[in-house]
Formats: sequence, C-alpha cells, structure tokens
Amino acid sequence: MPIDTPPRLSALFLSAGARLSIVIFAIVLSACDGRQSALNTAGRAAERIAELFWWMVAGGFIIWLLVVALAVYSIHLRPVKEHPRLAAWLILGGGAVFPVVVLAVLLVSGLAMMPHLRVPPDGADLEISVSGEQWWWRVRYHTPAGPVDLANEIRLPVNRRALFLLTSPDVIHSFWIPPLGGKMDMLPGRTTRLVLEPLRTGEFRGVCAEYCGASHAFMGFPVRVTTQEAFDAWLEAQRAPAVVPTGALERRGQQAFLANGCGACHSVRGTAADGRVGPDLTHVGSRLSLGAGVLANTHAEFTRWIAQTGQVKPGVHMPSFGMLPEHDINAIARYLESLQ
Ligand code: CUA
Repeated sequence: MPIDTPPRLSALFLSAGARLSIVIFAIVLSACDGRQSALNTAGRAAERIAELFWWMVAGGFIIWLLVVALAVYSIHLRPVKEHPRLAAWLILGGGAVFPVVVLAVLLVSGLAMMPHLRVPPDGADLEISVSGEQWWWRVRYHTPAGPVDLANEIRLPVNRRALFLLTSPDVIHSFWIPPLGGKMDMLPGRTTRLVLEPLRTGEFRGVCAEYCGASHAFMGFPVRVTTQEAFDAWLEAQRAPAVVPTGALERRGQQAFLANGCGACHSVRGTAADGRVGPDLTHVGSRLSLGAGVLANTHAEFTRWIAQTGQVKPGVHMPSFGMLPEHDINAIARYLESLQ
C-alpha cells in the first residue's frame, strides 16, 4: 500500500540533524582549546576521563542514529502487516536488554579506571593541602623542610604525582582542574584526597565545581605546570619571608596596611601582620591573579580590589577599604605589588 510521504517531515529531520551537527561541531571546537577544558587534556586522570567521554559520545551517536532510523522506518515505510512478536522483541530488546548491557559496560569500565585515579601505593611525589574558603583557596605545600603557605594558585612540576588533601571549614566546595583530572568535593570536617599527575607544562585554570554561595562563580585559580627545576625555584621563593620594602611609597603602604588592621586577617611573614582569616599575602605580588582568579595582577586591579572588594566579589568577607584616602590605597597597592 503506497504511503503518503509528508515531504516536510523529512525536511524537518534533515534540518534538525544539520542543526544538531553544527551545535556539536561548535561545542567540540570551542572545547578543544582552553585552559579550563576537560578535553584539553594535560594530566593522566584527565586523559582517562576524556577517553571515557569520547566512547560515550560515539556510543550515544550510534544509538541516536539507530533510534532515528527506526523512527524514519516506522513513519515512511510503515509495514503493511503488524508484527506483534517483532514489536515485543523490539521493546524488550531495545528498551530493557540493550540499556542494561550498555550501562553495565559503562559501569565496569568506569570502575576499572578508579584505581588509576587513587593514591598510588608507593605514595605521591608531592603533598598539597587545599582548603575551600568563602570564596578563595587556602593552599599549603608540605615539604621536608616544613610547610609553605600561599593562596589562590597551584603550581606543579610536570610528570610528578601530586596528592591533594582537600577540606573546608564551613560550606561544601569542589576542587576541579579540568585539564588535569576529575573533581573532588571539599567537605567540612573531612579530608578528601585527589591525585593529579600533569603530563605537560602549561597554563591552566581550576574552579570550584559545587555551588557554595554568592561568589561561587568568582572562585577560580590559575594553575601553572612547569619543569621540576622551575617548580623548585618557585617553591623556595615562596618559602622565604616577605621582602622589606625599600622605596618610600612602598614603606608608606606597609605602614597604612598595618595601621588599617589588614594584618588582623592577612599574614605577611616577617612582619607584624599574622592574621589567619584571609589569604597569606607574603608573596602576593608574584601571584598569577588577584581575588582568586578574578582579577589580573596589575596596579589598577590591586587598587580596585582594595577599594571595591564587595563589588568585585559579592558577599566577600573582606570589607571594602574605599573610605581610605586615595594616596593610602595607592600606597598599599604598591606595597603589596612589591611582595614578590
Ligand atoms: Cu566554592 Cu563553589
């Protein structure tokens, strides 16, 4: 029996398919390059996760093709006679057996990956504690010569396994450096562990991947993977106490910094500032960003951060110091920039 084929329907299928392809193509292309892309892999765990992702994309695409082919078949080439047994097999096979098999394979392959993402039995090469704060990152590198405190950035040597010990004092965050590996929750009262092994040098970006409050979206951090030598030199510089300001403006900035109570929340090792509430500022001038990945480390952004803290990062615990005279803000910014 000839079937009246509605021409518009096939046109709709084609245009929808074409549009979908364009969207997929655009997403894939935009994700190929990016410091924060899980597909721009630069770590052992990220490679395995991306591998699983592409298998799932390919599998999903094949299943989508099958479903569309079945839909086209049933709409355009509807069989003359009904086959109840065939229909029953199709429903049972396609609706129950096939998904169970696919999900079982995905589950087993996912579980098989997990041992590779755990702490290796022979230990890690490097241990780093990170605490998710509102809304910044408290970072401590554990070294044989003692701990080194910093904030809001992670630097790693290439081809070394870094063990991250993650926690939070109050709300739940999630620590995620997409190009290096999977994410891990930071839970109050617990320490979770994550092993990351960078496989190439480069600049990347980490984020908080769990909604944690007003400035969740402003809780990022730069990640730099370097050679072991560059990493060692950087860590040694971070270990040193803060430089003593020599210029007149920087000295005035330090006085203003201490006089206005900044040291009650911030530490600048080697000075009277020994607060523990906010980020350690001993080497803030050398950091790759300001305000936890929000601003560039420039003089203009430093003054903006000091004067308009709450506007840059809504809900931030640090008060804005916009009420200070402009020359004081300028001097404090110069002092902090000098802390290399
Ligand atoms: Cu911290 Cu979201």
